[in-house]
Amino acid sequence: MISKKLETAINEQIKLEEQSARVYMAMASWCEANGLPGAAKFLYTHSDEERLHMLKFIHFLNDRGGYSALQALEMPKTDFSTLADIFKSILHHEEYVTKKINELVDLCLTEKDHTTNSFLQWFVTEQIEEESTVREISDKIKLLGEAHGGYFHVDMYLAGLAATAAASMAAAKKV
Ligand code: FEO
Repeated sequence: MISKKLETAINEQIKLEEQSARVYMAMASWCEANGLPGAAKFLYTHSDEERLHMLKFIHFLNDRGGYSALQALEMPKTDFSTLADIFKSILHHEEYVTKKINELVDLCLTEKDHTTNSFLQWFVTEQIEEESTVREISDKIKLLGEAHGGYFHVDMYLAGLAATAAASMAAAKKV
């Protein structure tokens, strides 16, 4: 049985993961409407991944005798200026998610909840990958984005990343 403190904290994390899905979907829609189909595909896929993160937390909490109670979400930002700005704000957002995951781990240690701690380690590793992917994309945008036709190449690169991410999500669902 999970403690009330952890139940509340995980419900907050569920909200954050669902909010992340919405934030990335809003960015994807802007890219789609502004001639960046590869970036849109990448961000729609990323939004789907966040929904999977949310579901992982929901199932875990309910399985441990808690209750995943969904909360109201905030209105996401819908107006953007450049792809560089979008990825800068994704990096800030993911750094915040990492901080919240680390706080959850800290709480598990205080509550001596080793089961939840073990479950959270998947997210600790996932955050390393998420941050590093976004940093890599930001570097590519810096390198190519300003040059003539640079965004075209960045967009193609993101379409490739989206295809890889979609394939690994499909494989994970089969496991
Ligand atoms: Fe679920 Fe991108 O953190």
